[in-house]
Amino acid sequence: MSLDEFFVTGEPLIYAGMVAIVLVTSAIIFLLTYFKRWGWLWREWLTTVDHKKIGIMYILSALAMLFRGGVDALMMRVQLAFPDLNFLNTQHYNEIFTTHGTVMIIFMLCRF
Ligand code: HEM
Repeated sequence: MSLDEFFVTGEPLIYAGMVAIVLVTSAIIFLLTYFKRWGWLWREWLTTVDHKKIGIMYILSALAMLFRGGVDALMMRVQLAFPDLNFLNTQHYNEIFTTHGTVMIIFMLCRF
């Protein structure tokens, strides 16, 4: 499989998404390293058995997924605002419809 088949090319929204992922991931790694918080993150949060902390992590991840599904919803609304807008092409609209539904039900609703 060539790289061209693996990565979607020529879509500005997808390029922007990829750049955002790299920037946000780098910022998180930088901040955790700079403030020496890796051990704290692992011990106090990721491996905790405290039900209140687990509840807080559920709420935060549900809100993150609500935001992610919400961005999908916004993109669909923009596309549907006027006929034949072509903000998203047909394939991309179908993909966003699917991820919006899946993310909202499985990753957002099921956490609450
Ligand atoms: C708890 C689950 C869900 C929530 C909270 C939710 C939320 C939303 C919101 C806020 C919008 C924007 C509406 C607008 O501005 O017009 C939207 C749009 C949309 N959602 Fe969902 N959604 C959920 C599940 C689903 C599912 C399961 C599907 C289909 C598989 C779906 C398909 C759509 C479509 C097609 C639109 C665009 C329709 C339009 O904007 O007129 N949603 N959703």
